[in-house]
Amino acid sequence: MSPEKTSAKQPAGIISLQGVHKSFKGRKVLDNINMDIMPGESHIVIGLSGAGKSVLFKCILGLLRPDRGAILINGEEWFTLPIEEKLQRMSCVGVLFQGAALFDSLPVWENVAFVLRRQGMNKPEARERAAEVLEWVGLPDICDKMPAELSGGMKKRVGMARAICHRPDIIFYDEPLAGLDPVMSDVITTLMKRLHERMNVTSLTIAHSMKLVREFSDRVSMLYEGRIYQQMARHDIDSSHDPVFKQFIEGRADGPIQFTFSGSDHGKEAT
Ligand SMILES: Nc1ncnc2c1ncn2[C@@H]1O[C@H](COP(=O)(O)OP(=O)(O)O)[C@@H](O)[C@H]1O
Ligand SMILES: [Mg+2]
Repeated sequence: MSPEKTSAKQPAGIISLQGVHKSFKGRKVLDNINMDIMPGESHIVIGLSGAGKSVLFKCILGLLRPDRGAILINGEEWFTLPIEEKLQRMSCVGVLFQGAALFDSLPVWENVAFVLRRQGMNKPEARERAAEVLEWVGLPDICDKMPAELSGGMKKRVGMARAICHRPDIIFYDEPLAGLDPVMSDVITTLMKRLHERMNVTSLTIAHSMKLVREFSDRVSMLYEGRIYQQMARHDIDSSHDPVFKQFIEGRADGPIQFTFSGSDHGKEAT
């Protein structure tokens, strides 16, 4: 397929979303999203369950195609590139998927070194690199274990090791604390902070944990009703007077965001 013509503007950010729309069966999930993620920042996108955060994430990663608009990473629209070039570009990116998404049939080290092996690195070297990053995330000596032998928190850390093993410039995290107990949540948050600083990367995180926002973000964007409803520096969060934003960050059921508790399709899910 030949690359399509694009009307994308010169982006300000290392990741730039310009007028992105995405609907499913006529239902708008993303409705004209514009945002720029600046090099080196830690940016967190927050929003209610079902707000479209994972859809946004999949569009950025090129796993879902927006109906309209442009998404540029390092100034390029990946969706328009031939598959080989797209895969090559992907090596500047590390992803921690919700639930870690490890390959069950591969031992830990092969999961971690997956991108390196795909890039052609030989087995002994790739295994050595995997062992090194596993140590970074506090998991020495588990190279030969299988994912089924690991706890949820260990799988998450293996997922982090896989995300960083090929030394990416950008790390994406989708709900990195989902399903973790408070202690493991703190461990993962600390690791995310360390990796962000040590690797000098840009981090884009999808989350609904305000604790993570407070500890890890430089800037935060709230996705609400398909749009970037609010965007601000972390230190401005508590001075916002917006009632929707305040309800979200304070985690209250009462407020302008209406919930249904009856199982009706209307209104927001009470999850
Ligand atoms: N592949 C799909 N087909 C149809 N609807 C989808 C698809 N993916 C997501 N959606 C819908 O888009 C909305 C946003 O989903 P999602 O991005 O997963 O929310 P969240 O903010 O919780 O990550 C939901 O209503 C979901 O049902
Ligand atoms: Mg999600």
